[in-house]
Amino acid sequence: MNIKKILTDYKKKIKLIKKLNKFYYEKSKPLVSDGEYDELKKEILILEKNNNFLKSKESPSEIVGFKPSKNFKKVSHRVQMLSLANAFHEEDLINFEKKITNYLSKDKNFQIHYSAEPKIDGISASLTYKNGNFERGLSRGDGKEGEDITLNLATIKDIPKKISDKDFPKDIDIRGEVFIQNSDFENFKEKFANPRNAASGSLRQKNPKDTEKIPLNFIAYTFGFEQGLKPKKQSDYLKKLDEWGFKINPLNKTISGIKNLIQNYNEVEQQRANLDFDIDGIVYKVNDFELQKRLGNVANAPRWAIAHKFSSNKAISKILDIDIQIGRTGALTPVAKIKPINIGGVLVSNATLHNEDEINRKDIRIGDTVTIERAGDVIPHILSVDFKKRSNSSSKFIFPNKCPSCGSKTVKEFNKVTKKNDAVRRCSSEGYYCDKISIEKLKHFVSKEAFNIDGLGKKIIEGFWKLKLIKFPQDIFKLDYKKIEKLEGWGSLSVENLKYSINQKKDISLERFIFALGIRHIGLENAKLLSKHFTSFMNFQNLSKTKNYEDLLNIDGIGETQVSSIKSFFANQINIKVLDELGKILVIKNVMATQQNGLLKNKSFLVTGKLNGISRAEVKSLIEENSGITVSTVSKKLNYLIIGEKPTRRKLENAKELNIKIINQDEFLKMLNKTS
Ligand code: IVH
Repeated sequence: MNIKKILTDYKKKIKLIKKLNKFYYEKSKPLVSDGEYDELKKEILILEKNNNFLKSKESPSEIVGFKPSKNFKKVSHRVQMLSLANAFHEEDLINFEKKITNYLSKDKNFQIHYSAEPKIDGISASLTYKNGNFERGLSRGDGKEGEDITLNLATIKDIPKKISDKDFPKDIDIRGEVFIQNSDFENFKEKFANPRNAASGSLRQKNPKDTEKIPLNFIAYTFGFEQGLKPKKQSDYLKKLDEWGFKINPLNKTISGIKNLIQNYNEVEQQRANLDFDIDGIVYKVNDFELQKRLGNVANAPRWAIAHKFSSNKAISKILDIDIQIGRTGALTPVAKIKPINIGGVLVSNATLHNEDEINRKDIRIGDTVTIERAGDVIPHILSVDFKKRSNSSSKFIFPNKCPSCGSKTVKEFNKVTKKNDAVRRCSSEGYYCDKISIEKLKHFVSKEAFNIDGLGKKIIEGFWKLKLIKFPQDIFKLDYKKIEKLEGWGSLSVENLKYSINQKKDISLERFIFALGIRHIGLENAKLLSKHFTSFMNFQNLSKTKNYEDLLNIDGIGETQVSSIKSFFANQINIKVLDELGKILVIKNVMATQQNGLLKNKSFLVTGKLNGISRAEVKSLIEENSGITVSTVSKKLNYLIIGEKPTRRKLENAKELNIKIINQDEFLKMLNKTS
């Protein structure tokens, strides 16, 4: 990479971390998971290490946390609150120890004793005690200056308000972590993404009475300023904290030797899912205070301590149950209900098991201890089972041979193309006979790429279904709005809005309509091919009479699998009725022969960001109907970049660099002589 590129890359990353910090520390609303944040931080530090000309006041190497919010009085810490360097692998620990040994100029046989303390993932606080009285409590803030949150901290029962022990220092800042127990978090999980956010939110309440409502705990582990502290070792200090009435982590240990640190790390990781508080690693501190003092700090982290972090995308937990979910096409998907565990900042309580074959192959059972992986946005899945931890009484999981929703037989179909049995087991009922399938069909019907009905999401569909307001797609257009208005959470305005958005979608293109029906194997592309073939709703509907199924095989892209699926769709009388009813209510537009010389001829388009009242799929159809082309990346070949709300910055920058015309939604519609 050349210097210019490195610099732009670095600046981009700094800008991003600044934004993430602001949302995290000032607004208590993290934009990304802790794992992703750590990743970015690491990338910045590596860039700085490899290119010593890179410097920024906003770099994580310069700042600890972020400035406190304006709601509370700012107070300087008497001794700075430091942060910790991270270790991920054994070699990081070896390096850490080597550096210490070198710094102290000891030979390699010198044994260092560490205090190994599970790192609670909460919010740190510094409590000032003078003559045994709790006088003031500060948040960490930027490490130098914190917020005065004394009154909020005083509501925490684990924080002693008066300590009369003779050996308690005259003046000391006791430091530790404020957190919420996982079992208590259960009551707040609708409001916060994870326990850490709940603790942070609670501590930042303006009114301490509100803090009291979210039960907080405090575990002590270090100190800042002190006068009269006797212990000479961290382990002795921890013992004293316990005597003075503070809670300390029950899993703290004193350990020497890297191998033993790793063994302890593995053991604690195994116990992680059973703890009632979130931990994201183990902190190792040189136990001897004298050595700590000699080692001192580099920038904002001590040389004498390091945080050995757990992998940000894997964790060990236990399978509490195996649920069977039923999809729109009747597929039975097993889902493991696991003991909730924090993986990279997200509390995970479900993991997909894919299908019956996967369960058999990995021999996954209820009660098993398993390693779960969460990578990016994909649903967490089970990597492996710890067979050693399996109880003798466990039994093999038997996949249901009856649909848990409607009781129909479940079958594994024979795939004519692959000449193999499907891995997926399905409910053999005909669509709407099975409640679960029906609900999923309705969710699909209103989904973004189908009817795209604003304000009619999955949860609302489920609610309306339970109240018997809807069963078939046509019911959506005949809703009893008077009844809905009386439901909890609804009012005349929200009902009006719903009515408006439903009515607005009564006009629909044939391809979207076919897609919305949710016929198995008929996705967006196939629906488009079919709509071009039939050109009108009537022709499509008549298929049940003409039974010209063989004809469909002539459509390029449609094969036997799709045809047999369309055949079974039309063989079902309920579907015929649904088509009939929808035909009466909707205006399904005929497909116009695509214009060869449309308004957008030879022009290519790409959309980035959210558009207003029009979906991407619709824009794509509009472009193609008018002889334009849609592309998926910004390149020299692109003529127009259409930008909506929150466009992808990279696309925008690339387009500017390549001098590509950037237009908004209105400008695009104007090209078609339309307005939004
Ligand atoms: S010692 C000088 N001990 O980790 C060391 N920190 O990244 C700094 N933490 O802000 C504090 N458990 O929020 C220490 N046993 C422990 C800890 C711990 C959790 C947190 C704390 C700190 C962060 C450092």
